[in-house]
Amino acid sequence: MRILIIGSGGREHALAWKLGQSREKPDILVAPGNGGTAREGRNADLPPGGIDRIMEFIREHKVDFVVPGAELPLVNGIVDACARAGVLCFGPVARAARLEGSKAFAKEVMREAGVPTADFAVFNDFAVAEKYVRDRKRPLAVKADGLAAGKGVVMAAGPEDAVAALRGMMLEKQFGPAGETVVVEDALAGEEVSLLAVCRDETLVLLPAAQDHKRAWDGDRGPNTGGMGAYSPAPVLPESRMGEIADLTLRPVLNIMKKRGIPYSGVLYAGLMLTADGPQVLEFNVRFGDPECQALLMRFKGDLLELLVDCASGRLGDAPGAAGEACPPQAAGGARGRPGDTAHRTGSANPPDLAPDGPKASAESADSGVRSPLWTDETSLCVVVAAEGYPGEYRKGMTVGGIDEAESRVPGKIKVFHAGTVAEQGQVKASGGRVLGVTALGADLREAQERAYAAVAEIRLEHAFFRRDIGCRGLKAACTGHRVSGLCPERRIAERGEERPPFADPDGSGT
Ligand code: AMP
Ligand code: GLY
Repeated sequence: MRILIIGSGGREHALAWKLGQSREKPDILVAPGNGGTAREGRNADLPPGGIDRIMEFIREHKVDFVVPGAELPLVNGIVDACARAGVLCFGPVARAARLEGSKAFAKEVMREAGVPTADFAVFNDFAVAEKYVRDRKRPLAVKADGLAAGKGVVMAAGPEDAVAALRGMMLEKQFGPAGETVVVEDALAGEEVSLLAVCRDETLVLLPAAQDHKRAWDGDRGPNTGGMGAYSPAPVLPESRMGEIADLTLRPVLNIMKKRGIPYSGVLYAGLMLTADGPQVLEFNVRFGDPECQALLMRFKGDLLELLVDCASGRLGDAPGAAGEACPPQAAGGARGRPGDTAHRTGSANPPDLAPDGPKASAESADSGVRSPLWTDETSLCVVVAAEGYPGEYRKGMTVGGIDEAESRVPGKIKVFHAGTVAEQGQVKASGGRVLGVTALGADLREAQERAYAAVAEIRLEHAFFRRDIGCRGLKAACTGHRVSGLCPERRIAERGEERPPFADPDGSGT
């Protein structure tokens, strides 16, 4: 089977790596790919020109199965075009990809489906939007409706910030047509967590929870990025609650999409805020998260190709871990436990409070993870190494060294996923904002964190930075009362009352 993976990031490297381990022994093409995907399969040029050009490529290269990494080809209709050409493609059709492509559409669907989400209003007219934000008198999130490369959300503490954001989006057309319509919603407080499932119609295979780190700098400061690191499982979302939360957030959306005549297929990713009033959906994505994908696939033991093909060809119900109706805790594809081990508890001494009935429910529910053959019960953690300046203007062209040394520190437990790299005459050069995703498995979060950072220390890359506190939040949630590892600079900084200067390398440790 010949597979085409579309994209060039860390997520696409992780997909190529895991798909390459399939029993099918597929021939893997990645277009355009990066320095790492070239090692998992073959990179191919995909000249710009939209869906038609991609379809030409698919025909020329006799591709059997297409796996788009990012949202753009999905929103632009790659799945629809492949269906017309009789080629299997993983993901939603364009009308369903609007769940990510239009925030107003996603909010309407959530409202109709009764999914918990922040109160909101949608505007096409600046003056009307301005009046709304001035009258609302509370912190708001101002969001460009369309795709804006992860930059289309402005958190506004007061009305002046909100009006400035509206002006930028609606009048100055900062994001082009994507900002002509805006969604304004109430700001929510809580901890964020990503809940992903592979879905087809009303069937879903739940993936373990993962937690991303969206801000550029330690302690969740600095500008929003695509993601600076991730780990899985996320103690803040215990497996015992995952089925129930999927029933609250993902399943109603699948039902409504089917009712609207646009049955969903592909990954449905809910960005959740765990608030004092319970989980609320901030956004939907229609593809794997990056870097959540790297952390999740590091733990995946099943045949990914089989799962994605089952989904694309309408056979997801046969896949291990599939749940066709409301997710009983036992049926969700969580991460721990053994088949039949339905009475297994979360084991956390301090179950995190998922209001309204958090600690009690999580302590008493059965474990959700009886499909453990799909997932190792080890923890994974991915640290993104980024080029200085990211997510703004950043440097390129630096030579990347130390990847083999990093991976050989604990053989089989560390994988360095390439993101913004190119292979040039036997050397790896930095070519993007997020350069590498150094990912480790450990018996628990602490060990995964120690291994990942020890591997990062092997990387040689000038003019780069990384967050030093990936996983620290999870350690605190899981081990309140335990000594938190010395690797938690978030805590050290908080204790010393220091601000970390942007992009500085206070320890002088290289990257
Ligand atoms: P989105 O693309 O809608 O997920 O927004 C990107 C990021 O903005 C999220 O990951 C949150 O950190 C933040 N965000 C979005 N909406 C809200 C909200 N209503 N309240 C608080 N933070 C939000
Ligand atoms: N890591 C967040 C995203 O992929 O959207």
